[in-house]
Amino acid sequence: MLHLLKHPLLTHKLTNLRRKDTDTKEFRETLAEIAGLMAYEITRDLPLKKITIETPLGSCHTHELAMDVVLVPVLRAGLGMVGGISSLIPSARIGHIGMYRDHETLQPMTYYSKFPDNLGDAMVMVLDPMLATGGSSTAAIKIIKDQGAKSIKLVCIVGAPEGIKRIEKDHPDVQIYLAGLDESLNDKGYIVPGLGDAGDRIFGTK
Ligand code: PRP
Ligand code: URA
Repeated sequence: MLHLLKHPLLTHKLTNLRRKDTDTKEFRETLAEIAGLMAYEITRDLPLKKITIETPLGSCHTHELAMDVVLVPVLRAGLGMVGGISSLIPSARIGHIGMYRDHETLQPMTYYSKFPDNLGDAMVMVLDPMLATGGSSTAAIKIIKDQGAKSIKLVCIVGAPEGIKRIEKDHPDVQIYLAGLDESLNDKGYIVPGLGDAGDRIFGTK
């Protein structure tokens, strides 16, 4: 199911991310900020448990998070989203999936994966700024499910209709979160109007 997140700050920051003149430093910082704002909304339904703590003035009956959060960035571009979210959820553990799209076939090629234990008990957030054909995200979700994850949220910044359809078909149990929904893909599989190549813009490789 698709959740298109709406907030004036998200819209404004996404506009800056899309500008072709935004340099590497601003792109990286803005992408991290957007990821943090999205995480604030996405974690609304995280369960809490009752606890009692001591304040300087006495006992306080209160709550703390009752569920682990695991972030799984899809390399490379997903790495740009980790800092913005982990600064809000410092207890989050982090897994990694290394994957790139073959330029000819657009098929995802996996070159690395490593996860924390007990994914089945955690809310797992798969992070990738771009949901284009959906090939990379659907493959990443399959890898995470094979590791035992049950509660999975796919967090992308910009998506195309093709990618959303693919995830809804392959993984109907996964919630999809986007800050922007674009029109289409071009003949090279890039999202239009999109923001270009997210990995290259984050890491200054072009
Ligand atoms: C980009 C992006 C996604 C994928 C999206 O990665 O970060 O992982 O493409 O496309 P899809 O939905 O059609 O699979 P890329 O292959 O450019 O690798 P990179 O992050 O290392 O640059
Ligand atoms: N990957 C990107 O980085 N950008 C796109 O538009 C599509 C895939």
